[in-house]
Amino acid sequence: MNKDVLTVLVFLLVVAIARHATASVELRETASRLRVGYYNSTCPKAEEIVREAVTARHAVDPTIAAGLIRLYFHDCFVRGCDASILLDETPSGDPVEKSSSANGFTLRGLDVIDAAKSALESACPATVSCADVLAFAARDAAALAGLRRYAVPAGRRDGVVSLASDVPSGLPSPAYSVDNMTALFARKGFSPAEMVVLAGAHSVGGAHCVAFSNRLYNFSATAEQDPAMDATYAAHLRTLCPLPATLADVAKQPKVDFDPRTATTLDTSYYVGLQTGRGLLASDQALMRDRRARAIVQRMAQDPRKWARKFAKAMVKLGEVEVLVGDKEGQIRTDCRFVNADTDIPFFGIIPGGIL
Ligand SMILES: *[C@@H]1O[C@H](CO)[C@@H](O)[C@H](O)[C@H]1NC(C)=O
Ligand SMILES: *[C@@H]1O[C@H](CO)[C@@H](O)[C@H](O)[C@H]1NC(C)=O
Ligand SMILES: *[C@@H]1O[C@H](CO)[C@@H](O)[C@H](O)[C@H]1NC(C)=O
Repeated sequence: MNKDVLTVLVFLLVVAIARHATASVELRETASRLRVGYYNSTCPKAEEIVREAVTARHAVDPTIAAGLIRLYFHDCFVRGCDASILLDETPSGDPVEKSSSANGFTLRGLDVIDAAKSALESACPATVSCADVLAFAARDAAALAGLRRYAVPAGRRDGVVSLASDVPSGLPSPAYSVDNMTALFARKGFSPAEMVVLAGAHSVGGAHCVAFSNRLYNFSATAEQDPAMDATYAAHLRTLCPLPATLADVAKQPKVDFDPRTATTLDTSYYVGLQTGRGLLASDQALMRDRRARAIVQRMAQDPRKWARKFAKAMVKLGEVEVLVGDKEGQIRTDCRFVNADTDIPFFGIIPGGIL
């Protein structure tokens, strides 16, 4: 190799490393601007108020825990933890995240967030961000589902943009391979091990038949069912999800628990299920086909306390993804469904009937 070329390559490599270092320092600094007890002086009851709203709902519907954890994940992986998932509309008029088919009618817990927020606005107006409410509520949900209560750093601000078009690339699909999921989680700052730990959230909640029925019927040219699925489990799922006759029937099909033995408890039986071919989604069961992921599944299945510790840590880290912080970024919404009335929206477009 020519010496000049080598020099250039070394230079590029050094620049790349320096860039990378700067980027990760920035990420850490942003995250470190979140603080446990952020509302100690401005709204001392903030976390208690959220906890009360979540507890009240959980008492009548324990499946809400899974809904709130999912809501938090779907918010943080799309445009960061900025409560953009809660917006019903934005001044731009574009379809919002909520309207994406990956969210839509499957989102649960929105009313719990509304209840918490309205109690917060009475106690301390315009002080607690919707993004922090989501992070507190997800923690409370996890605690009610059996996880040890962990501290949640706060100080996030709410975004003013929400785009349905951001959703498909931000959320994992049930059809994702382990490589697809690993790449997505890496983009958000998570290691493959953290990804497997977070997948344990599927020890609560469930999925509608349409998300997995391709594994039950006409799976491939050579197999009616997905051979990775336990045959008894597949037969059971076929009784719950008969092949729909029409498109309208698809919408009427039920939701099936990921982990039927302990459907509302966060625990490691999800991982045990994977080891016996009882992962509901193809993307869950795929973890067993990847050598590295399978090793972590085995470790988590054997050590529930270790998983619980790692899961709590991963939930906190999830809450640091691309957050808005400080006075200059975002806002504190007074209604989680709408940006504040006085929001300055930068306008670059063409005014109908004239050019700006
Ligand atoms: C808030 O109070 C808690 C408990 O007293 C304390 O651990 C925490 O550091 C405080 N946080 C801030 C930002 O003042
Ligand atoms: C998933 O991975 C496959 C091959 O590894 C790749 O071709 C495909 O583009 C990926 N899909 C997404 C959405 O990343
Ligand atoms: C099953 O899948 C094959 C392609 O793999 C397709 O040609 C066939 O029409 C499908 N059968 C049914 C009943 O959907």
